[in-house]
Amino acid sequence: MIPMIAALAICWVLPVLLLIMQQQSQAAKAEALEEVSKRLRKKLVMRRPVVGGNWKCNPADPAKLEGLIANVNACSSSGCDIYICPSPLHVALVQGKLRNGAKVAPQNCNFSGCGAYTGEMAVDQMVAMGIEWCLIGHSERRGEFGLPTPGESPKLLATKLKYILDKGLKCVFCIGEPLSVRKQGISAVLSTCADQLVDILPYLDPDKVVIAYEPVWSIGTGVTASPAQAQETHAGIRAYIGQQTSDDVASRIRIQYGGSANAKNAGALSACPDVDGFLVGSASLKPEFSEIIDAVAKAKAFSML
Ligand code: PGA
Repeated sequence: MIPMIAALAICWVLPVLLLIMQQQSQAAKAEALEEVSKRLRKKLVMRRPVVGGNWKCNPADPAKLEGLIANVNACSSSGCDIYICPSPLHVALVQGKLRNGAKVAPQNCNFSGCGAYTGEMAVDQMVAMGIEWCLIGHSERRGEFGLPTPGESPKLLATKLKYILDKGLKCVFCIGEPLSVRKQGISAVLSTCADQLVDILPYLDPDKVVIAYEPVWSIGTGVTASPAQAQETHAGIRAYIGQQTSDDVASRIRIQYGGSANAKNAGALSACPDVDGFLVGSASLKPEFSEIIDAVAKAKAFSML
């Protein structure tokens, strides 16, 4: 009889207890984040919007760069910071050609300087070329979309970020959850974002680091996060940063949204108080890139007064 009760306890009661405990701890975490969020909402902050154009592995023909560069030079940077991520082969062809203050930000870097690192791009080389920004942590490098090499881990990315900052560059640091996590709800999403941020908390200087929140399910799919989803997630990320660092860091750090951002949805997303700009993929290869910049500059202009 006693072994039967023990077996029942192990098979049924224990898992239920564990589930309840897990749910309670998730609820407590969510409550704690909401408290920080409330505190941060009361702060009057001015964050200059920032929009990046991630050209990924495009275009094939370097002759097309001229048109793309002209497209960027046609953008107004009066109310918004702009950066462009050309493909590694094209970085040197774009650097020095942007005339409106837009910066070139390579899509990756190594963390050990120059030397015997075949195929790598060293931060030291970027410094020597006058490059000021570098983007790391894109989900396409973290292991999504069938990268043929091992995905980059949060620890590796933290090492890269430290190296970038030590060399005097600024960094756009991408995070974001896959669809399977989004389906589990906001607590799971924020917990994934926290896992991607935990190792870089000591390096989160709002003057030098921009976070790009890019839900993987929305990248290149045409499925954009709704303004409500984006705002809830951005506010949660900001609250987590506030909880783990300081209110000052959390309220000043800029969090961009990325994932099928375009001229049509930029206005509504820009109206979200915690969305500080965009990381734009495919639409950054089109003339509408300037409309995205104008939309966020206009939406945030009041907070810059
Ligand atoms: P998308 O890409 O705008 O084409 O979805 C965004 C990104 O991956 O940075």
